[in-house]
Amino acid sequence: MQELCLLCWAVLLGLGLACPEPCDCGQKYGFQIADCAYRDLEAVPPGFPANVTTLSLSANRLPSLPEGAFREVPLLQSLWLAHNEIRTVAAGALASLGHLKSLDLSHNLISDFSWRDLHNLSALQLLKMDSNELTFIPQDAFRSLHALRSLQLNHNRLHTLAEGTFAPLTALSHLQLNDNPFDCTCGIMWFKTWALTTAVSIPEQDNITCTSPHVLRGTLLTRLLPLPCSAPLVQLTYQPSQDGAELRPGFVLALHCDAEGQPAPQLHWHIQTPGGMVEIASPNVGTDGRALPGTLTASSRLRFQAFANGSLLIPDFSKLEEGTYSCLATNELGSAESSVNVALATPGEGGEDVLGRRFRGKAAEGKGCYTVNNEVQPSGPEDNVVIIYLSRTGVQEAAAAGKGVSGQQLQGLLLLGQSLLLFLFTSF
Ligand SMILES: *[C@@H]1O[C@H](CO)[C@@H](O)[C@H](O)[C@H]1NC(C)=O
Ligand SMILES: *[C@@H]1O[C@H](CO)[C@@H](O)[C@H](O)[C@H]1NC(C)=O
Ligand SMILES: *[C@@H]1O[C@H](CO)[C@@H](O)[C@H](O)[C@H]1NC(C)=O
Ligand SMILES: *[C@@H]1O[C@H](CO)[C@@H](O)[C@H](O)[C@H]1NC(C)=O
Repeated sequence: MQELCLLCWAVLLGLGLACPEPCDCGQKYGFQIADCAYRDLEAVPPGFPANVTTLSLSANRLPSLPEGAFREVPLLQSLWLAHNEIRTVAAGALASLGHLKSLDLSHNLISDFSWRDLHNLSALQLLKMDSNELTFIPQDAFRSLHALRSLQLNHNRLHTLAEGTFAPLTALSHLQLNDNPFDCTCGIMWFKTWALTTAVSIPEQDNITCTSPHVLRGTLLTRLLPLPCSAPLVQLTYQPSQDGAELRPGFVLALHCDAEGQPAPQLHWHIQTPGGMVEIASPNVGTDGRALPGTLTASSRLRFQAFANGSLLIPDFSKLEEGTYSCLATNELGSAESSVNVALATPGEGGEDVLGRRFRGKAAEGKGCYTVNNEVQPSGPEDNVVIIYLSRTGVQEAAAAGKGVSGQQLQGLLLLGQSLLLFLFTSF
């Protein structure tokens, strides 16, 4: 029993005075220091005294920092990790270090960093993350770092910075951002204004430059001229395959999404058909109508051909392609959407009656049919219904009355509302 207790004491004492075998531990100026630099370490060694305040693991071969890597040393104030091979800093690796004032992670390979952990490091004064492979910084990454004085992010792969990223850093006096491949689009314009008015010292501004777009390559961020920046606007228009001519089964329906905005918006089509939702990132075909490489398709001819110029062609329009066609335009300033409902009436199914029942009450009977210039004034989204019957007789009657169905008139009509209903009446 006594022997056992002696062992207990030995273990307890051992724990208190321990130092991992490869490291040197000691005291200096009241700090408890653990020096494990230049030891070829591939992991953070276990067994530190719990009161360590300074830990150097610089110039080792650590490949990552796992969750709880510094759980043993909650009182740490300085942590030196420069010149390792760290790629990943896992969630929970640093969050326990609420007393940390200095953190050096420079000269590693970090691309995957747990930014959330910084939210717990509210005592941090120095953060060195230069010479890594960071590609982005979340907008709220620094929201708790009210004591941070120096932030070094130079020599990374940052291509943009969200507006307000540095706003919470009220104690910041030094910021290094040089040598990042910035993409000088609307999203980073704020930085110039901020950099020119802030009291924060930003050295080496000659090396804070645009890498893209090509025409701005090498331009200093602080010398960028204002760019014309605007959120997207879209208009959907429609074109029959042959203007005013009779439409036969298998005709080509063309929708055109005219999107404005700076930078040029990305287009997506969302098509709600009877068979389900089809989502298309535009373009999915080249100018020749052939599927672009990487587009999943069983057949050589795509059912929906989205061209880079904003046109969507449906080569074999049938009942299966009826539905709601939405064009969604997105750029870094926002997004906009426009939709059109397309229904197909074929002779023999009781045309008007069937369609009339299907869109009960939305279409005043007879209104909008045959006389294309009979504009239905929309009074609400649900009433934004324009019905156009295209049939041989219809076109002829309209033409006889001196009201030819021109593509332009059709487009004018189709631009009336946001939710349009277009009936195509084929005749053969
Ligand atoms: C840390 O703990 C050890 C062992 O308990 C003690 O000898 C040392 O003085 C402490 N260091 C500091 C800086 O308090
Ligand atoms: C980090 O901060 C959050 C919120 O303040 C807290 O709930 C969490 O326990 C902290 N994490 C650690 C490891 O201390
Ligand atoms: C600035 O950029 C130039 C050209 O890329 C490079 O030669 C120079 O070393 C950089 N200066 C610093 C201090 O990084
Ligand atoms: C877009 O390109 C396609 C294929 O080249 C063409 O058929 C279509 O008419 C074009 N759309 C417009 C609005 O120019």
